[in-house]
Amino acid sequence: MSDRRLPAALAAAVTERARPEQLGAAAARLSAGYRANLTSRQAVPDAAGVAAYAASRMPATYAAVTAALDRLAAARPDFAPETVLDLGAGPGTASWAAATLWSSVTSITMVEASPDFRALAADLARAGSFVLQQANIRAGDITQPSGLPNGSFDLAVIAYALTELDLAAAERLVADLLGRAGRIVIVEPGTPRDHSRLMAVRQAALSAGACILAPCPHAGPCPLPPDDWCHTSVRVERSRAHMRLKGGTVPFEDERYAYLVLESGGLAGAENENGGRILRPPRLSKHEIAFSLCRTDGTLGEARIASRDKAAFKAAGKLDWGDWLSGDRRG
Ligand SMILES: C[S@@+](CC[C@H](N)C(=O)[O-])C[C@H]1O[C@@H](n2cnc3c(N)ncnc32)[C@H](O)[C@@H]1O
Repeated sequence: MSDRRLPAALAAAVTERARPEQLGAAAARLSAGYRANLTSRQAVPDAAGVAAYAASRMPATYAAVTAALDRLAAARPDFAPETVLDLGAGPGTASWAAATLWSSVTSITMVEASPDFRALAADLARAGSFVLQQANIRAGDITQPSGLPNGSFDLAVIAYALTELDLAAAERLVADLLGRAGRIVIVEPGTPRDHSRLMAVRQAALSAGACILAPCPHAGPCPLPPDDWCHTSVRVERSRAHMRLKGGTVPFEDERYAYLVLESGGLAGAENENGGRILRPPRLSKHEIAFSLCRTDGTLGEARIASRDKAAFKAAGKLDWGDWLSGDRRG
């Protein structure tokens, strides 16, 4: 598992650029705006807003993107992307995450509509590796074919950006990208709304010939009932400054996110044998550990591992919400 904290150079660059006198009000405005499903253009409309985004949201979106990229690395251990496309890049969160996870990355292209975010992404990238410093940071509307760069990419990441698009445009974008990017990672807020939209995007991707590497262990319809939604969580350490900014009382926050890892063509990954994706936090008692699973046959199920089965119980104790449970342990 990769380090989910912002790289030190990025954290320092973000802190340097945050203007304390404007930060509190801008951060409160953006939190309220995103909670009300406003787009970034409405919620973070200026330079103070994007600086507040980097200070208040980027640690969590970076952690969620890194966790989703880890799932891709687990499903495809030999994957060593050279060319990365970051759509709706904002301050460059996904570009930093990909370049940190894979030293193979030699070229990064970011596409971003907001001039304030592009300026911040360029500024922050100066604190990064050579490949980040050399990133091509383009203006563009990712809902338009003309907004996307020509050529093909080993990896495309769309992080917390599909949520801002019209659903039909989001479906079209992902289906179009499949011919251009070997692997696509999508990360969205872990809400019922975004889960339902992501399932529509998943269907569009499957119809366009994609294979799902994670989280779904099958290509059938999502078996969750309408009042439930697939998401997971990543814990993010909070600095004192971040706690003050977000009014937090504990030195961490739990970022809930939903994601999809897609591959153009191909067959599902090695994880897709027996077992299933852990859908909720495991339930631990003195006698057993119980998991809610999404299974390879497209159904929901439970797995229980008794504490008397010491080796299996110990191994299961290391698994968390969103991990893969191997073996055929149906309850
Ligand atoms: C919530 S921010 C996410 C930023 C970054 N990807 C992250 O994960 O931290 C969404 C970004 O998508 C950008 N965006 C929204 N709609 C867009 C569009 N149609 N074309 C290009 N960028 C867009 C916004 O300007 C904003 O920077």
